[in-house]
Amino acid sequence: MPSTLLIPLAARARGNHYFPWLACGDAVAAGLLERLGTDVEPYLNDLPTVLNVLWRTRIIRDTAQGFFLRHPGGQGVNLGCGLSHHFQWLDTGANHWLDADLPEVMALRRQLLPARCPRTRLAEADITQPGWWHRLGLPPRAAGSGAAAAPALVVCEGVLMYLEPGQVQAVLHEFAQCAPPGSRLVLDVLTHRAVGTAGRHASVGPTGAEFRWGLARLADLSAAHPRLALRHAHSVAECYGWAGLALETLWWPWLGAPLYGMVELEVTTP
Ligand SMILES: C[S@@+](CC[C@H](N)C(=O)[O-])C[C@H]1O[C@@H](n2cnc3c(N)ncnc32)[C@H](O)[C@@H]1O
Repeated sequence: MPSTLLIPLAARARGNHYFPWLACGDAVAAGLLERLGTDVEPYLNDLPTVLNVLWRTRIIRDTAQGFFLRHPGGQGVNLGCGLSHHFQWLDTGANHWLDADLPEVMALRRQLLPARCPRTRLAEADITQPGWWHRLGLPPRAAGSGAAAAPALVVCEGVLMYLEPGQVQAVLHEFAQCAPPGSRLVLDVLTHRAVGTAGRHASVGPTGAEFRWGLARLADLSAAHPRLALRHAHSVAECYGWAGLALETLWWPWLGAPLYGMVELEVTTP
């Protein structure tokens, strides 16, 4: 499963060539690939996945920049960060950023991408183990005085679809339970019809990872906790113009959710 991190890394490093209108201008990814010396050509032949990654990078960047405009000194965290480096686009000069992943990935990341700014941190985390919010030192739900704490921004891309549905519910529940009101979670989602099909996926298949969680309805996300509200949902179908949108509309009763989409959840005060 950790080896899947090469798929988005390759797309951010080299995908600009195929989809210049979605170019993310990642200043770090290409250098990392060079140092890793891995052949990523097969990933670049899977153009729909390259497009998915560039499209989601754009949405994450825009969402996060909007969040830090409202909260210039706020805390951001990337759960299952792999070798991504979103802080290159998000540094306000006052905000804080945490990159967290499984220990074996963080060992690699510490060598290749050590934290160089005093406002950034690296941490080992397994988000299937309850208590990760506090273990990562993320802002508590209320400040010491009982006042509301500053909200946090959580990014979780290319991660949750590989977990069991119960584990995803627990991650959503912990975020909603522990994060201060106004906190946002940006994540990517697959339709439940994709579950069990990773073997047929051009890039994911060879890694041996499997899609275990998918959405039957977008409303299932906010149903995970009374404090969760769905703020935005996008489908990658929008990248394929009217034909993509028409096909998705036709299939919607069967898909129940975007084939591949991005959603933003907010912690509210019920
Ligand atoms: C497809 S990669 C995505 C990496 C990164 N988010 C990106 O877009 O470049 C999936 C990542 O999820 C991480 N991951 C998988 N299970 C995890 C868990 N239980 N806790 C934390 N990270 C996990 C993997 O180690 C891997 O880095």
